[in-house]
Amino acid sequence: MTEAASSDWPDVQVHVVTGKGGTGKSTVAAALALALASTGKNVLLCEVEGRQGIARMFDVEPLPYAEIRIAQGLPGPDGHAGVVHALHIDPESALLEYLAMYYKLGRAGRALDRFGVIDFATTIAPGVRDVLLTGKVYEAAQRNSRNKGAIRYDAVVLDAPPTGRITQFLNVNSELAGLAKVGPIKSQSDTVMTLFRSERTKVHLVTVLEEMPVQETADGIDDLRANDLPVGGVVVNLVRPQDLSAETLAAARAGELDRTGIEEDLRKAGLEVDDALLDGLLTEAHDHAVRRGLEDSQRQLVAQLGVPTYELPRIAGGVELGDLYELAAQLRRQGMA
Ligand SMILES: Nc1ncnc2c1ncn2[C@@H]1O[C@H](COP(=O)(O)OP(=O)(O)O)[C@@H](O)[C@H]1O
Ligand SMILES: [Mg+2]
Repeated sequence: MTEAASSDWPDVQVHVVTGKGGTGKSTVAAALALALASTGKNVLLCEVEGRQGIARMFDVEPLPYAEIRIAQGLPGPDGHAGVVHALHIDPESALLEYLAMYYKLGRAGRALDRFGVIDFATTIAPGVRDVLLTGKVYEAAQRNSRNKGAIRYDAVVLDAPPTGRITQFLNVNSELAGLAKVGPIKSQSDTVMTLFRSERTKVHLVTVLEEMPVQETADGIDDLRANDLPVGGVVVNLVRPQDLSAETLAAARAGELDRTGIEEDLRKAGLEVDDALLDGLLTEAHDHAVRRGLEDSQRQLVAQLGVPTYELPRIAGGVELGDLYELAAQLRRQGMA
């Protein structure tokens, strides 16, 4: 495959990344942001769940409620690379900003915080919290020349809540209750929904090749579609190395690997070999082969989901900043960016 494979999502402005918790949503969102930046786009990477995962992945201080430049894409053939900014969106700050913007509250807005209005709005009013979070994503995605002084982005990547909550999170206006059904919060949520339901948004799902996450991915896709939310691709993360042949895997599964041959190879490589080591290795090989078999059957199910799929390898020893660039390059080669 060539480096500049064309993107499957050239006109998408908002990439929402969801998935079962722990499958690598945050990692994939970060890699996708870098991949888009490597195509020359200026990207905003947002997180909304108060975990400071972006700061950890990019080795920077915890992010404030401000757009911070955290990385640059890899330059293309023309030497140009887009920039990734990051934003940690919390509902309290988003509400204060919202009040300041719409009601020109300024300092008074900050005073509201002391009186506990913020707690009221974010914990009591159902759905308002999500409107505030998604409203900020919308604001960042929609900037144009009238937004003087604000950074303009070609794409926004949202490290979103997990699959179980994503439809509710994005479906902001149907979750509003009581007073929020009229007035500015309602009109804001209508505007946000227009963007989320449009072709300018895609919701990508991250999974691993195990039964539960794959099932959850299938259910998530159904649920998104039932709510008219635009499904993007599926990113299969943490894929095990596939360098053994089908015959070797079958032999490992059946416990029929050539023990003596392995022992000789290890000795030739200068290792001291005893039975415990050999037993350990053969058990590992067996477990690996069993898991590979399970992965292969789950991979077939993923292929039947009917959406573009991308695969990212399990990185030994965990994901460091440099690895994010490698994952980004893989997403790009596969056409996700
Ligand atoms: N491709 C990968 N290879 C190795 N480790 C990974 C990979 N993707 C994610 N991880 C690790 O798995 C853990 C969970 O990933 P994270 O992106 O935080 O998941 P989520 O946001 O879905 O909870 C983290 O420690 C992360 O570094
Ligand atoms: Mg996360």
